[in-house]
Amino acid sequence: MTATDLDACKRTAALKAVEYVRDGMVLGLGTGSTAKHLLMALGVKVRNGMKLRGVPTSQETADLAAQSGIALLQTDEPWVIDLAIDGADQADPAFNLIKGGGGALLKEKIVAAAAKQFIVMVDYTKQVSVLGGSFPLPVEIVPFGWRSTVRQIENVTQSRALVRERGRAPFRTETGNMIVDVHLAAIEHPRQMETALNQIPGVVETGLFVGRTDLLIVGKPAGAEVLTASRT
Ligand code: A5P
Repeated sequence: MTATDLDACKRTAALKAVEYVRDGMVLGLGTGSTAKHLLMALGVKVRNGMKLRGVPTSQETADLAAQSGIALLQTDEPWVIDLAIDGADQADPAFNLIKGGGGALLKEKIVAAAAKQFIVMVDYTKQVSVLGGSFPLPVEIVPFGWRSTVRQIENVTQSRALVRERGRAPFRTETGNMIVDVHLAAIEHPRQMETALNQIPGVVETGLFVGRTDLLIVGKPAGAEVLTASRT
């Protein structure tokens, strides 16, 4: 499977997700290459007369949404988000997710939590039996005291935690924080892991999205598969 084929699977999932969008909705708009396909498809809807407003989860998404003609809500407005749609890095059989490969996990989680419904789009290679392993868990931390925070993350997880870099400097999120990628062999109990990590002072959020997915749309070469979940 080439990168182009995988991208086609992401597009397949995004086109299916758009079918759940209705005129007048306020959308939570995810970040990443799958979300980019979504925004392009939403642009077609808007050009055909659909009225949509959105809350973007990154500047990149805000720019794409503006190009697609989606009106953006201010970040300090009271939101009523009808539907959030986003990609993910991994999804387990209970539709728990690892997100944050692009570093937007904090805004993504705030928006997903604020939405009445959360749809997740993945290509089929992101479905895993257990989270972790091939994909490290991103954890957003504040810069103050970061070495101490990283040490505590390693103690709690019993795993290696590496500060994400861009160039030779630490990567900074749009909210000015750092990302630590935690190399966990397997996350058998995602909810407990999320709770344990969130109790460490200095941790802002983790890339674990537990019990948040209402609908998982899996893009495959043969088409999109739609899987429904009940929030746990
Ligand atoms: C952004 O921080 C991430 O959570 C993305 O949603 C996730 O990495 C999926 O990205 P792709 O759609 O580019 O694979």
